[in-house]
Amino acid sequence: MRLLATFYRSSVGKKMIVAITGIILILFVIGHLLGNLQIFIGPDWINGYSEHLRDLGPLLWAIRLFLLAAVIIHIWLTIQLAVENRRARPEAYIDRRYVKATFASRHMVMSGLIVLAFIIYHLAHFTVRVTDRRFALLKHDPLGHYDVYSMMVYGFQNYFVSGFYVLGLFLLALHLSHGSSSFFQSLGLNDKKLTPRLALGGRIFAWLLFAGYTSIPVAILLGIIKPTQHL
Ligand code: HEM
Repeated sequence: MRLLATFYRSSVGKKMIVAITGIILILFVIGHLLGNLQIFIGPDWINGYSEHLRDLGPLLWAIRLFLLAAVIIHIWLTIQLAVENRRARPEAYIDRRYVKATFASRHMVMSGLIVLAFIIYHLAHFTVRVTDRRFALLKHDPLGHYDVYSMMVYGFQNYFVSGFYVLGLFLLALHLSHGSSSFFQSLGLNDKKLTPRLALGGRIFAWLLFAGYTSIPVAILLGIIKPTQHL
């Protein structure tokens, strides 16, 4: 128990926990994208998938709580690390140009917080469904499932909503593109050749996720995906 507490208090320990909670969240983001891309296969797929998730009942709540805990720990420890870093520095940098840091790395806290705001809006939008009254008017599909397909189409037909999603997804990609390279360092992997390659792989992966997610609002705005019922 004491060993665990010392590990938690040390900055290496904190970085490890940030990395592990980050991985848990990334796995969710990959799974969620694969689930959402079913919109391209058709309404039966995505509506059925969403119904299956809800059928999980208490297990779904356990997963939700687990993810929520991962988000809170991830944010809490990164803020603590940022504060510790600032304290360890004798005075603020006089000329920021001398500091070798990428745009993504300098804005981890800011991008993280905007992503958090995006997630809160997203939950209100598609999970609790309080931002658009029309969602309550949607009839069930012919298979008796809630019509998540049409809900997404109506949701993304609004340019401001889609714009905010793309902004949130852009910042998420920026956050992940830096986060993935820090991840390998946090786990102690510091190889001259391998580390830059893994970092590049992480960046490519982050932007692939961005392309995958944004393809949904873009396809809807282009009229490639249309609602199956009219409101
Ligand atoms: C274009 C992008 C996205 C689309 C179309 C989308 C779609 C959806 C939909 C339809 C739901 C509700 C599922 C249901 O109730 O049946 C949902 C829930 C959720 N989404 Fe997304 N999502 C997107 C991006 C994201 C991103 C980037 C994140 C996280 C970083 C995220 C996190 C969540 C979470 C945490 C839930 C709640 C899951 C639950 O509690 O059941 N989503 N999303």
